[in-house]
Amino acid sequence: MTVTKPHMERLRDELSSLLRPFGQEHVLAFWDRLDSEQRQRLARQVVAFDWPMMHRVFESPGGTVDWGTLAARALAPPALTLAEFNDPQKLPTAKRLGGEAIRCGRVAFVLVAGGQGTRLGFDRPKGFYPIGPVSGRSLFEIMFDHVAARGAQFGVTIPVYVMTSPLTHAQTVEFFQSQRWFGYREKDVQVFCQGVMPAIDRTTRQVLMAAPDKIATGPDGHGGTLAAMVQHGVLTDMRRRGVEHIFYGQIDNPLLQVCQPQLIGHHLLRQSEMTSQAIRKQEPLQRVGNFAEIDGRVHVIEYSDLPDEVAHLRNPDGSLKLWAGSIAVHVFERSFLERTADRADALPFHRAEKRVPFVDAEGREVVPAAPNAIKFERFIFDLLPLAERSLVCEVDAADGFAALKNGPPAKTETVEWVRAAMSNMYKRWLVQAGGSMAAGALLEINPRFALDAEALRRRLPAGTHFSESTYLV
Ligand code: UTP
Repeated sequence: MTVTKPHMERLRDELSSLLRPFGQEHVLAFWDRLDSEQRQRLARQVVAFDWPMMHRVFESPGGTVDWGTLAARALAPPALTLAEFNDPQKLPTAKRLGGEAIRCGRVAFVLVAGGQGTRLGFDRPKGFYPIGPVSGRSLFEIMFDHVAARGAQFGVTIPVYVMTSPLTHAQTVEFFQSQRWFGYREKDVQVFCQGVMPAIDRTTRQVLMAAPDKIATGPDGHGGTLAAMVQHGVLTDMRRRGVEHIFYGQIDNPLLQVCQPQLIGHHLLRQSEMTSQAIRKQEPLQRVGNFAEIDGRVHVIEYSDLPDEVAHLRNPDGSLKLWAGSIAVHVFERSFLERTADRADALPFHRAEKRVPFVDAEGREVVPAAPNAIKFERFIFDLLPLAERSLVCEVDAADGFAALKNGPPAKTETVEWVRAAMSNMYKRWLVQAGGSMAAGALLEINPRFALDAEALRRRLPAGTHFSESTYLV
């Protein structure tokens, strides 16, 4: 007579044999204490991971690329400087081509909002933050106002795809529902969820447990966008709609020039597969990713990977050789993403040492005071070297980049800093439109009122003066 093991015991054995080859059996340390629902939950989490792939990543000694050697032969990337981007000979054509692409429904907007927003210290998804300097509009509302206004400029609705993570997904969908999808039709917005990666102990390389029935995880980086787009049928949906060009932006930048026609136009003129906006670095060691051409391919080298002596290299005119800093704004060809989709898993993981709360072997909760863990993220810019043709376009940060990253006591990229950057940009538009503003007052303009300085000039009588903080909507 054979005695079959009870179901839970068999499940435990199966999980054990899955984890054992990778030295991760401690994940089941609390199994006997868990009720059946908790066991099921843990089992679902364990089987969802690709343990052989993760093992390779955990064991790789901190990055597989020798940036020091590569950076030594790095050149400035193929780029349009601000003057070239705005060259009056080319700008009208770029605007026209980009505008036509939008008008014909060939452009979609992908907004990534799956991050944890740990530095900001806000207890809800970052996109909910009421950043509008006068209106108090949330980052999400600002993005939707912008993309709706851009569509309206060309008489179309631009489809929007918002990436969340398991941390932000349910709350984000609920928020969109409560905000009635910001006036968008539900069928034109798809919210899709990215994957996660476990956090490991920085010394033992064992995955950390967030609770006795839960592995500690974090979203797998904005580079997880491609895999998530494939998994959730986003690329298929785009193909069905006739979308060919994908405008990618991040939720934390309210100055994002959403689906800017001239950027799309320059991308088309160059037949680029991936076009990225860049700011001109103000100092050699500025903490931004560096665009660089290495052996004929464009890469972004993280500031932490760029050797100081390379960062300091200058051209004969004194300008920085690697001058272009990444602000995470890209235009992709859909065909490029489709071509690279099966290599989505080949994008490297970058590692970062972080403080991650966990439960210890006795089941006690520990909140570490110093980094105790390694987290793994993919970065979207690692797609760049896979592109046959790519282009970097300079943008003035004052017109296109002010990211909300930090809580106090930081001095930059904080709520106040971002609000000031927004108001200052709108005030410049006002001055260009022949208007003025009382000192100390703030100005905010909804893109539905005016999408740029030119549009504002058309709408405001010359000589307009605002004596107090104003929101134009
Ligand atoms: P950051 O790397 O600056 O992270 O992401 P964050 O979540 O905003 O903040 P910290 O580092 O935890 O303080 C830049 C952008 O990429 C998105 C974020 O939502 C943000 O818009 N992102 C980041 C994702 O969508 N998924 C990720 O896994 C990571």
